[in-house]
Amino acid sequence: MMKKIFLFAGFLIIAASPGLAEVWKAPDQEKAIQRAKEAVPFVKEYKDDCIVNRRTCLIDAGISIKDVTDVYFLLDSPVIKSREDQYEPVRFAHKRHAALANDCSICHHFRPKDENALETTRCSACHQDSFNPDHPERIGLKAAYHQQCMECHQAEGKGPTDCKGCHLQNVPDHKELVKLADNADPIQVTKECLRCHDAQATDMLTTAHWLWKGPSPYTTGHRKDIMHGKGTTALNNF
Ligand code: HEC
Ligand code: HEC
Ligand code: HEC
Ligand code: HEC
Ligand code: HEC
Repeated sequence: MMKKIFLFAGFLIIAASPGLAEVWKAPDQEKAIQRAKEAVPFVKEYKDDCIVNRRTCLIDAGISIKDVTDVYFLLDSPVIKSREDQYEPVRFAHKRHAALANDCSICHHFRPKDENALETTRCSACHQDSFNPDHPERIGLKAAYHQQCMECHQAEGKGPTDCKGCHLQNVPDHKELVKLADNADPIQVTKECLRCHDAQATDMLTTAHWLWKGPSPYTTGHRKDIMHGKGTTALNNF
């Protein structure tokens, strides 16, 4: 039910925003969509005789911009998606970044031990779960991206560091969703939101925002003898 509403409304947003599709069009969009769905087997061992000067190792191996097979990626790994998926895929102009950095090793900082593996393997081959007890030194995939992408953008003073610079939100336009009379009262408004947000409402009921309660020594007529709070006496207790 939710999914349908979302998909439908998502379509509306795209259809309604003038020229969203024209502003940005990737040459190999279809391929990127397919690539984003690939689940990569986990690589346990990496080659550590090349760590000190990975850049030189890559140059020795003859790796250069000609080995950039994907001009651009949509980063939307199933590893992350299975646990959280609040945003649209992240667009990553790979070739442009490779040309700008002029050094593949900045991002492709390790390679698998297996000699047959690709020198510049995908991040998700080595970074997956946010905590892997067998490889505690490896951060999870989301953190790997966030750290590498944002640290460089910060250091360079170029490229987005705010969430919306990389993430398009997966949130449908609420103008289309919320159906309320012009002079709706607060309870009607809350009720309308809860029509779709019952999960959030249930979460809310277990937080301190909802459960807080304490003495209110200054309330006339109730001094000390009553505990005030959302859980007891508060008026806006929907
Ligand atoms: C420089 C780009 C960049 C910036 C800035 C950025 N992210 Fe991300 N984020 C990514 C990438 C890349 C992924 C991995 C997407 C994938 O493969 O699924 C990701 C994944 C995520 C995910 C998990 C996937 C999802 O759809 O829910 C969340 C949540 C997230 N980021 C939140 C944030 C928040 C909050 C901020 C701002 C504080 C932020 N990000 C800023 C690049 C960025
Ligand atoms: C700014 C960071 C960055 C730079 C610089 C960079 N890449 Fe990448 N590269 C990535 C990311 C991110 C991916 C996608 C990883 C994923 O899907 O997990 C990728 C993926 C690849 C892949 C596909 C790997 C596979 O297993 O299919 C190849 C090949 C590749 N890069 C080659 C290169 C080469 C060659 C250079 C240098 C000329 C380079 N890259 C420079 C970030 C970078
Ligand atoms: C062949 C395996 C392998 C691949 C591929 C790989 N990493 Fe890593 N990564 C590691 C290991 C191992 C560590 C932990 C290093 C340590 O501290 O001992 C690490 C650590 C990191 C860290 C923590 C800080 C640091 O630099 O040590 C970041 C960020 C990171 N990786 C991002 C990425 C991104 C982004 C990609 C893809 C462009 C990638 N990694 C590809 C193995 C890999
Ligand atoms: C080595 C440094 C470096 C790393 C690592 C890096 N970026 Fe960037 N990024 C830049 C620079 C520099 C720019 C500005 C480029 C320009 O103005 O043409 C940029 C621009 C961008 C932009 C805005 C322009 C565009 O392409 O639409 C996005 C989005 C972006 N980066 C995403 C990412 C993501 C996602 C990652 C991690 C997978 C990442 N970047 C990793 C240096 C980096
Ligand atoms: C017909 C269904 C529907 C109604 C009614 C509705 N929403 Fe939503 N709302 C959604 C969906 C779908 C999402 C996106 C998925 C998610 O975050 O759960 C969303 C997301 C949100 C978000 C997250 C936005 C973000 O940037 O992450 C907020 C906040 C929100 N709604 C507030 C409200 C409020 C306040 C009301 C009542 C005035 C309301 N919604 C009524 C369907 C609805």
